[in-house]
Amino acid sequence: MTIDTEPEVQVQRSEPNDQGYREFTLGEFIFRRDEYFVYLRWPTGSHIMSADAFLRALQRDVAWDFFYGTVNFDGVFGTVNHYGTVDMFAGRYNDAYRKAELDYAENIETPLIRETFAAMLDDWTNQTFDPFASPHETGSAFGLKNGENRAAITRHRVAAVRMVNVPGDEGLRADENGHPVNRHFSDVTQDEPTVEAEPGFENEVASFNLFAYLSRSQVTWNPSVVSVCKDSLFCPTTEEYILPIIHGNDRVEWFLQLSDEIHWEVEDRESGSVRARVVMKAGDVCAMPADIRHQGYSPKRSMLLVWENANPELPDLIAGGKTPTYPIDF
Ligand code: PHB
Ligand code: FE
Repeated sequence: MTIDTEPEVQVQRSEPNDQGYREFTLGEFIFRRDEYFVYLRWPTGSHIMSADAFLRALQRDVAWDFFYGTVNFDGVFGTVNHYGTVDMFAGRYNDAYRKAELDYAENIETPLIRETFAAMLDDWTNQTFDPFASPHETGSAFGLKNGENRAAITRHRVAAVRMVNVPGDEGLRADENGHPVNRHFSDVTQDEPTVEAEPGFENEVASFNLFAYLSRSQVTWNPSVVSVCKDSLFCPTTEEYILPIIHGNDRVEWFLQLSDEIHWEVEDRESGSVRARVVMKAGDVCAMPADIRHQGYSPKRSMLLVWENANPELPDLIAGGKTPTYPIDF
């Protein structure tokens, strides 16, 4: 019998600097932070990002285990998921860096980048900062190292096996389990559907009020898997302010705007050139093609249903031209 074990990984980190933060090395990349900024260095260049924006993006890359396709932290730095390994890049999807031949990328075994990013998130997130919260609902990311916020950065990721509220699956949210109704959703009714099951089927029929469930989300820009049917995943989320990553798709995904409004900036995935601006209002539905990247802006807390196709063959089918980059022919 063989037992699968995670390969031993060694996170490379320094002693704390003058501001109290450790420096991390991963491959040829070096990451450092001070009171306001994160500094990146790699063999052909360097980059600077605001510490709050960097930590919000890092939090999602860690929590989503590198997500579907590309996670751009901004127009320069990010990761591409190859589902077993991850490319970490600088300038790779930036026309100017490419033309100047300053772009750089390294392929890294997933366990090593996973552990290094998690350690960096842990060390650089102060007690006052919650990278998943809206800017209005968190304290500051800035200043000298000041404690840690492990409860926030290791939150349970909702991932239903069948559906929320099926016996034994993900449970409902309530005041009692730390999920009060958000200030922007005080008008959302909280009643649950009544199920009248035939005798003997009481444990097999389930339902829940999705709007009530979402109104109690503590976090922003963090899709939860609330129902699963084979590869079809319903991943609703509540949004406020700006999606902290620019997501480069490796498959088509559908958006259903369940409430309020989100503005999407849609760019070419490779070059970053502008392709579209989309304003989605409550009830609007759109599909994001498989060759773009996008970032959303939500003026107030809104509810968005992200519909994902988790078929692991899709990236290769699309990259090989066997499946189109758009979802539907009219
Ligand atoms: C996306 O990249 O499609 C995405 C990510 C997080 C969200 C919404 C959409 O909250
Ligand atoms: Fe996306």
